[in-house]
Amino acid sequence: MANSFRQLQDDFTLIVTIDGPAGAGKSSIAHQVASQLKFEFLDTGALYRAATLAAIRAGVDLSASDQLAEFVSQINLEWRDRIIRLNGEDVSEQIRTPEVTKSIRHLADVPAVRIQLSQIQRDIAAGRDIVTEGRDQGAEVFPDARCKIFLTASPVERAKRRMRQLADSGRYLSIEDVLSAQNQRDLEDRMRDVGRLRAAEDAVVINTDGLKPEEVLEEIVNLVRSRME
Ligand code: DC
Repeated sequence: MANSFRQLQDDFTLIVTIDGPAGAGKSSIAHQVASQLKFEFLDTGALYRAATLAAIRAGVDLSASDQLAEFVSQINLEWRDRIIRLNGEDVSEQIRTPEVTKSIRHLADVPAVRIQLSQIQRDIAAGRDIVTEGRDQGAEVFPDARCKIFLTASPVERAKRRMRQLADSGRYLSIEDVLSAQNQRDLEDRMRDVGRLRAAEDAVVINTDGLKPEEVLEEIVNLVRSRME
C-alpha cells in the first residue's frame, strides 16, 4: 500500500538532478532553475556539511568510520526553505567554514553514512517537484529521476569561477593554489567507492565553458519543460 502510494506520488512529481564537479556553477544554476520553475530546491552538500559540523563539534574521531555512521544515525538534519538545521539549530553559515570543508571527506567516504544521508534526501524529495544538486544524485540517489543534468566545465574555467567567488568574500588566491586544491577535491570526489562523482548514463551533459549563466539556465529550463509534457 505504502509503496504504491509512493509510486503514484512519483508519477506526478518531477525530480531534476544536477550533478557535477565543484566550480562548474551548478549551485547557482540549480537555485535559479528551481526558482524559475517554482520547484523546491535541495542542496545535498549542505547535509554532508551539517553532519560534518556535528561530528567536529562532538569531537568524534573522524577516522573511525563505524563511529561516524553510528553518530550520524543519532543527529537530526532538516532542510526546509533552503535552510539547514542541525538538531533544530540553523547552521547555514557555520557549515561553510574551511574546517568543515576539509573534513567532509571523512564522512562522505563512509558507505553507511552515505546510505543514511541518501535516505534523508529521498524523504525530502518525496512527493515534491524538486531540483536536487550534488555529486551522486542522478546516478545513485535518484536513479529514476525524470530529468538528469551533469554540469561541467574545464578545470581552468572552474578555478577562475572559484577565484571570483572567493574574491567576493574578500579572499584572494592565486590560480595555481585554486587549481591545486580543485584537483585534489576532484580526485577525492571521483575516487570514492560509493557516491563518486559521475554522470548517470541517461544524464544530459552540459559543458558551460563559454556559455553565459542565462544561456545555461535557459537550456536546463527548456529541457525540464520538455520532460514535463
Ligand atoms: O556541494 P558542496 O561543495 O557543498 O559539497 C561539499 C562536499 O560534500 C563535497 O566535496 C563532497 C560532499 N558531497 C557528497 O559527497 N555527495 C553529495 N551529494 C553532496 C556533497
